[in-house]
Amino acid sequence: MDTEPTDTDLAPLAMRVRLAGPRDAQVIADLLGSTDDLFARPELAVLVAQGDEGVLGVAVLRARPPARATELDRLVVRAEVRGRRVGRRLLAAAVEWSRQRRALQLEVPVLAADADARRFLKGFGFAATSDRLVLAA
Ligand SMILES: CC(C)(COP(=O)(O)OP(=O)(O)OC[C@H]1O[C@@H](n2cnc3c(N)ncnc32)[C@H](O)[C@@H]1OP(=O)(O)O)[C@@H](O)C(=O)NCCC(=O)NCCS
Repeated sequence: MDTEPTDTDLAPLAMRVRLAGPRDAQVIADLLGSTDDLFARPELAVLVAQGDEGVLGVAVLRARPPARATELDRLVVRAEVRGRRVGRRLLAAAVEWSRQRRALQLEVPVLAADADARRFLKGFGFAATSDRLVLAA
């Protein structure tokens, strides 16, 4: 049997990105591997990519109004649909969400992104900065 991915396997999926609600809590907890109650935290916004057969991925955003920035706390795409533009769609929606809130930039904490994720983010246009001096308190 041929197990090579075909063009159809890797074709972009039909999806729309929407704000998540409490009804999505279980699928989000499964994706994030966490039982934190994200909906009890007003500083957070949770976006999900909704496909025909359920939620494909999730992005957790944190508004940081004094810095006029948004932080991307988490971004996770269901393992079986990775490489099919779900992450990119969630990032584009995160940028749009940030612009609507007059944020000037979208930031990803370095610790949240391993080498693969950094390649993905740079491919989208993210650039690393080194404009902070930090001391452990
Ligand atoms: C990183 C992640 C969110 C990417 O989501 P995805 O839906 O697979 O990515 P997309 O299909 O939207 O890929 C968009 C682009 O990034 C590239 N890309 C995706 N994953 C990549 C990787 N690991 N290394 C290099 N490039 C990658 C794709 O080739 C694609 O490029 P193209 O637009 O030129 O074709 C997903 O792999 C994931 O959930 N990983 C585990 C959690 C994680 O690391 N989150 C990131 C925290 S910032």
